[in-house]
Amino acid sequence: MAGVTDKSFRSVLRDHGCPLLYTEMISDKALTYGNTNTLELLDISGESRPIVVQIFGSEPDVMAKAAVLVEEKGASIIDINMGCPAPKIVRNQEGSCLLKMPERAVEIARQVVQAVQVPVTVKMRIGWSPEEIVVPELPQRLEAVGVQAITLHGRTRDMFYSGKANWSMIKQTAQALSIPLIGNGDVWEPEDALRMLEETGCSAVMIARGAMGNPWIFSRLIGWTKTGQLAPPPTARERIEQGLIHLERIVAQKGEYRGVREMRSHLAWYLKGLKGASKVRGDINRAPDYNTVIALLTEAMERLKQ
Ligand SMILES: Cc1cc2nc3c(=O)[nH]c(=O)nc-3n(C[C@H](O)[C@H](O)[C@H](O)COP(=O)(O)O)c2cc1C
Repeated sequence: MAGVTDKSFRSVLRDHGCPLLYTEMISDKALTYGNTNTLELLDISGESRPIVVQIFGSEPDVMAKAAVLVEEKGASIIDINMGCPAPKIVRNQEGSCLLKMPERAVEIARQVVQAVQVPVTVKMRIGWSPEEIVVPELPQRLEAVGVQAITLHGRTRDMFYSGKANWSMIKQTAQALSIPLIGNGDVWEPEDALRMLEETGCSAVMIARGAMGNPWIFSRLIGWTKTGQLAPPPTARERIEQGLIHLERIVAQKGEYRGVREMRSHLAWYLKGLKGASKVRGDINRAPDYNTVIALLTEAMERLKQ
């Protein structure tokens, strides 16, 4: 997730046992121009494998060049974004715009597959709009050019992130493919992940928003499948402690100024639903430095213990 699954959050998710992590999406053009901000997005050094690097773009040859660079950096899998609905992405014929241009989408996949040795996967939505559904045909064509798995978000582009993901199209697409279909959309709790596997017959589940401020979704899910016991959700103290650990890592990675600011949204997610959360969130959003945020979180932890 762009702006969310940076190196520091990936390390938190890894602590909770998430078995397959993806980078934020990375522009093919920025990669091939050697843009320095982009090199930070591509920094997967020291991280356990497998790890997926996701790229987005619109030109098959530029995407193929970007894929080669990503492979050289040590990606285990290269994922092509065909789902992002953001206007600034779609305007450049990238992300979910490719669902409207199936020939281009297939050509991008074909050239990327040919350019690298590592497996290539595609992340996509069910279509642009209810009148322009592209499953299962486009996934089948992607499979035919060598794509090794498809992640399907059960929404159309025009839904953005609202409404309900259509799991029956995930089921229908899983049945139409020989390669693994990874289901995505509206997995908020461990129960939803198992329900998606059962209801759709998909091979795996991708969790996005359900992990924001909630890395326990992975540890609880994994623990549950191993022991048959679903652990309770984290306590207020555990959530704040996790926020402190995450804060320390993001500051180590990005420096105090950026770390403190980029951490604000993560802390809002960790604190969501706790007593007095909105006041603490407001204070954190005004806090200028690392020590002030630590003091605010420590104080909130003390108060919530009583
Ligand atoms: C803040 C945010 C950033 C996202 N960034 C990406 C991205 O970089 N690449 C991608 O394939 N999907 C991205 N997504 C979409 C998610 O991967 C996922 O498809 C969508 O949120 C539906 O799954 P969920 O219901 O589990 O959240 C993003 C979603 C959000 C909310």
